[in-house]
Amino acid sequence: MRVLVTGGCGFIGSNFIIHMLATHQDMTIVNLDKLTYAGNLGNLAGVRREHGGTRYVFARGDIANAELVAHLITVHKVDAVVNFAAETHVDRSIADASPFIQTNIVGAQALLETARTMGVPRFVHVSTDEVYGTLGPEGAFSEETPLAPNSPYSASKAAADLLVRACHETYGYDTVITRCSNNYGPYQFPEKLIPLMIGRAVNDEPLPVYGDGKNVRDWIHVLDHCRGVELALLKGRAGEVYNFGGAAEKPNIEVVKTILAALGKPESLIRFVTDRPGHDRRYAMDFSKARRELGFAPSYDFTRGMAETLAWYLENAAWVEDVKSGNYARFMAAWYGERV
Ligand code: NAD
Ligand code: TYD
Repeated sequence: MRVLVTGGCGFIGSNFIIHMLATHQDMTIVNLDKLTYAGNLGNLAGVRREHGGTRYVFARGDIANAELVAHLITVHKVDAVVNFAAETHVDRSIADASPFIQTNIVGAQALLETARTMGVPRFVHVSTDEVYGTLGPEGAFSEETPLAPNSPYSASKAAADLLVRACHETYGYDTVITRCSNNYGPYQFPEKLIPLMIGRAVNDEPLPVYGDGKNVRDWIHVLDHCRGVELALLKGRAGEVYNFGGAAEKPNIEVVKTILAALGKPESLIRFVTDRPGHDRRYAMDFSKARRELGFAPSYDFTRGMAETLAWYLENAAWVEDVKSGNYARFMAAWYGERV
């Protein structure tokens, strides 16, 4: 099978490519990535050494570039597209939504249309639980939950989901949408909660917890998400949506305290700061459809996953410094300002 993976130099895309090339000896992957601040070629240095030019090809470019996408599809005889490429940080979308509209909506639509018109047999679109909005203390999102996004990020992801749905309904194109909860694990950019807090705790810097810290996220190890996308690609039914979750709901403050305890750092580093505007209170996933139809089940429990993730970040301090070299400092200073 020959798969065009987009956004393969980001957090989940890198883990997906490493996993798929190791698991499927007959698979070739073409990785199309624009290399924004969140993309890092170094994540795939091992893959390039082992499979470069044979089972792995990298192309730098934009998913909105139909000519380039068409060229890659033709030259590499692509059997499926898996679209991870996106702008992904909620806080950045609040600061400036325009790149989110451009990549997550305009880019996704261009990629979808090129894949469809070029006759690529399957299109997997990777989306998020955030399109469903927010939950009260009870219940979980199912695939039937109406979309009610609350941030520019989640609104842009929901727009793409609707375009993918419409493409299936209108043209009968073979699309599958996956929606997953919050991922953690190696190679996550240190603007997201877990790697941000690890990095700051290690350096004895204050940890900015939004609001009262009681917002709940369902944490899934990135490899479990990758296995879910793999199952959706290989076994998902055309036109369907599949939810994935980690069955590990945690209030943010508990996650932060777990990190501090594991690092032997004091809780006095915690700062409760002004809440994120439009901050979703709780996410939880009903992934019984994926369990039933695809055989999906998360394999990591949170304690093990966090221990491995902490160890990875401690061993890869150079990676963290490397990825922070882009516009990281500028964004962090503008976003957190005097709050911490
Ligand atoms: P990330 O921000 O770490 O990586 C995104 C990648 O996409 C980067 O390599 C970037 O260079 C690339 N990219 C951005 N714009 C592009 C464009 N126009 N053309 C080509 N490449 C482009 O993101 P991530 O956390 O790995 O998320 C991957 C996907 O999974 C996203 O679609 C996201 O919405 C979805 N998702 C993420 C999570 C999570 O917890 N991180 C949860 C559910 C779903
Ligand atoms: P994040 O990792 O940005 O993921 P998402 O917003 O997509 O869920 O944030 C996870 C949770 O952590 C979310 O409730 C916001 C909170 N958070 C903080 O409290 N402080 C921070 O500095 C960040 C980045 C997030």
